[in-house]
Amino acid sequence: MSLRDILFVTSEVHPFIKTGGLADVSGSLPVALRALRRDVRIVLPAYRAALQRARNTVEMTQFSVHGSDTPVTIREGRLPGTRVVVWFVDSPPHFDRPGGPYTDEEGRDWPDNAQRFTVFSRAVEKIACGEAGLAWRPELVHCNDWQSGLVPALLALRGERPATVFTIHNLAYQGLFSWDVFQTLHLPQTLWSMHAMEFYGQFSFIKGGIVFADMINTVSPNYAREITTPEFGCGLQDLLASRKDRLVGILNGADYSQWNPAKDPHLVKTYNAFTLEHKAANKAALQDRFHLPREPKTPLIGLIGRLVEQKGFDLLLAVLPQLLQRQVQVVVLGSGDKSLEDRLKRATVEYPRQVSAHIGYDESLAHLIEGGADMFLMPSRYEPCGLNQIYSLRYGTLPIVRRTGGLANTVIDATEENIANRTATGVVFDDATPQALLQAVDRALALYRQPRLWKKILFNGMQQDFSWRRSARQYLQLYQRALQIKD
Ligand code: ADP
Ligand code: GLC
Repeated sequence: MSLRDILFVTSEVHPFIKTGGLADVSGSLPVALRALRRDVRIVLPAYRAALQRARNTVEMTQFSVHGSDTPVTIREGRLPGTRVVVWFVDSPPHFDRPGGPYTDEEGRDWPDNAQRFTVFSRAVEKIACGEAGLAWRPELVHCNDWQSGLVPALLALRGERPATVFTIHNLAYQGLFSWDVFQTLHLPQTLWSMHAMEFYGQFSFIKGGIVFADMINTVSPNYAREITTPEFGCGLQDLLASRKDRLVGILNGADYSQWNPAKDPHLVKTYNAFTLEHKAANKAALQDRFHLPREPKTPLIGLIGRLVEQKGFDLLLAVLPQLLQRQVQVVVLGSGDKSLEDRLKRATVEYPRQVSAHIGYDESLAHLIEGGADMFLMPSRYEPCGLNQIYSLRYGTLPIVRRTGGLANTVIDATEENIANRTATGVVFDDATPQALLQAVDRALALYRQPRLWKKILFNGMQQDFSWRRSARQYLQLYQRALQIKD
């Protein structure tokens, strides 16, 4: 019999709450699974901001969880524009506060993150085992990243339980806490063991998923291989290598209902592969928005992302003066490390006609950058999947990416051979150095100066199909394997 009922556990869902790509995935994979006739229900912490966006939620049930004095309420809503059920785990002392899902308004981690995501996981455990009073019980629980890593561990301690899958979106964020914090969580002491969730003297939430889930995956085939090596394994490479038979890579999809230049309400002019000339209007609008001179012919390079070491913005900053001698414009949208934010701001003051940055989070502007820029730069040091390069392909915006993780699985380098056989879709470079980045941009600029060739490469990119349907089918296969392994 094929599997039907799936509980999708996540700490971010677009459009309720988002810090990065996990929210995009959580807002679209369940929809794609539902289109394959599965009953998928999402469970998410009831952060204040998320509940405000959800508006009309209905209180379904209330129960207590081990280790918390306050009862948990489950509120039901729907993913906007779909029939996918979303259950918000409401525990006001843990989630009803201003700020982000993991940090306060100043960007500092909430001091009680371990307690917050333990309460969340305890509530998920009850739902998963049909003990929450919801008259529904999943056959499989799909957890994502460290915030739900405890769930497979708690379920493994149960006699009767659903199958479990754990997806690693980013191995560098592990949810590590001290022994003292562990003591406050009221968890079974057996979890503090190197064979369970102890990791070099700390309690590791992500290990719960890696050790105890029936199947594990990450968000690109390439990253699935990389994380079994010391360079990318963040100390967990040996454990991951020992579970190789249960570890697969499934590329993220793109939600083309949100990211489609032919229908994008955030663009000043929509376009498709046959009306690429309309990009010019978006480029002009983008230059206006960023207070850069309107120069239709000047190559415009866009970057969007969390300003953290992973994304390699520092590589760009290190080479900026040389890059700007090439008569290009650069626009950046992002927020994160204060030092990177400051360096970017200084660059905009120094080069007001060529560099502009918007420090902050702005969904609409992200779309305009994809629509208006000529090139999109992602010099990531590592990248489990990456979504913006996939969006760039569809927007006819040439991706310039490092050959790592999912970037290497999604962009095909414009080598002579790939150009000749019409597979080239972007520029790919190897070394995480400022010089390699500069050379890659130079290669892209050389292509830009050959308009017919340039258009052909953009056209190839726009034909690529990274829709969720294919990936959702792969997830169904993964779920089946998890069910078999469990039994
Ligand atoms: P990650 O999850 O590592 O941050 P991804 O490329 O998978 O990287 O996803 C990032 C998502 O977050 C994309 O949808 C991107 O457009 C969005 N994003 C990141 N930073 C910002 C920002 N400052 N403003 C708007 N959207 C952003
Ligand atoms: C992570 C990764 C990113 C990936 C996203 C969604 O945040 O950094 O590469 O695309 O998760 O899976």
